[in-house]
Amino acid sequence: MNEPWTPASWRKKPITQQVVYPDRDALEKVLDSLAQLPPLVTSWEVETLKRQLAEATRGERFLLQGGDCAESFRDCRSDPIASKLKILLMMSIILVYGTKRQVTRVGRFAGQYAKPRSSDKETRDGVTLPSYRGDLVNRNDFTVEDRTPDPTLLLRGYERAALTLNFIRSLVQGGFADFHHPDLWDVDFVNFAERSDDYRRIMNAVGDSIRFMETIAGRKLTELNRVEFFTSHEGLHLDYEQAQTRKVPRRTGWYNLNTHLPWIGERTRAVDGAHVEYFRGIVNPIGVKVGPSMEPQELLDLTAVLNPDNEPGRLMLIHRFGAGNIDACLPPLVDAVSRADRTVLWCCDPMHGNMITTETGIKTRSFDDILSELDQAFDIHERSGSVLGGVHFELTGEDVTECIGGARGLQEADLARAYRSDIDPRLNYEQALEMALLIARHTIGEPKK
Ligand code: PEP
Ligand code: CO
Repeated sequence: MNEPWTPASWRKKPITQQVVYPDRDALEKVLDSLAQLPPLVTSWEVETLKRQLAEATRGERFLLQGGDCAESFRDCRSDPIASKLKILLMMSIILVYGTKRQVTRVGRFAGQYAKPRSSDKETRDGVTLPSYRGDLVNRNDFTVEDRTPDPTLLLRGYERAALTLNFIRSLVQGGFADFHHPDLWDVDFVNFAERSDDYRRIMNAVGDSIRFMETIAGRKLTELNRVEFFTSHEGLHLDYEQAQTRKVPRRTGWYNLNTHLPWIGERTRAVDGAHVEYFRGIVNPIGVKVGPSMEPQELLDLTAVLNPDNEPGRLMLIHRFGAGNIDACLPPLVDAVSRADRTVLWCCDPMHGNMITTETGIKTRSFDDILSELDQAFDIHERSGSVLGGVHFELTGEDVTECIGGARGLQEADLARAYRSDIDPRLNYEQALEMALLIARHTIGEPKK
């Protein structure tokens, strides 16, 4: 039997990926300060997102979730933030067109600062130091000073999350999303794409639809300029998440007010572990990553613990199997969930099962593998009578060279040119947009080849 939940009850459970701070008192002081600071998001925004995810669960909406693998403090600057918004916005418009549904945009931003690692330690030239776990915990340079977990980084991370969110809210309200601005659609890579005619046709159709609606309305659709963005991050650092877990007036339950949509990673989803214990008690919509080792019964146990009332919009399963595994792994899970009548939002993360390492040791992903996993995900859900309600990407709005393939045909040799991610490789601006065009082509029901 489970003991009663409290924001701290996870402390009695076995925990993985735990950060060991050399100075526990310093950590406690920081956590006290964090708990005093005003929240980053509000309960009504969290409830709005939950309602939207319930719609996506029923196939009435589509979720686009994306952003960096790990946000870095150094990228808390106006250009990277604005370009991330822009790419998510453009992808979402293309997806509205393709899916014929409203699209909810959720960024992996304003708090995606803590990373799970496969090993606690890293050894270079005979020197062993703690692994880099994201800017919330330590720094990437390979020195004792940088790699030692520093609790003040929790405060620095929280402040940067607030600065990021502040800028996002201002941009969105100020009408940065002006669809009429030709620059927004000036996407030169289309000229290099094999499917350039298809891409142009979709982009033109999007423009025509907006003009058509405006003609009918007899005015500019200014509400199009104000779009909603929600935030999400992996809820990995439970001390940090607990500090902003609160009750709010006139609502029942505890909210994590660090972010709208926290998720549990593949490495911390043990049903009797600390992360699942923390997540079961908060009322936010939540995600869980689902990788190849997940067994149907384990998944049913997780859904029972995390969404005992079968509330629509509460639980999202983000599957990430890899292009070569999805066909074997996904159908039994979809089948088990359907038979047990569990209400979940299925979302495909085609990034985390498709990592490859080049001969020179660079971590990358291939555009074709990512697309293949997505295409298969759409097909499998359709065949199983279930709904793929969303997609989850690691991407950036900038011109990096981290994933290979796409219309420009990025090769292994190009990776060195602009590889900036500290952890996982991201789709660049053009690759992300092309991915949206290909999904749109798929979801509007046209032949794929
Ligand atoms: C991630 O989303 O960056 C991540 C680490 O994913 P996963 O937990 O699915 O491996
Ligand atoms: Co990642």
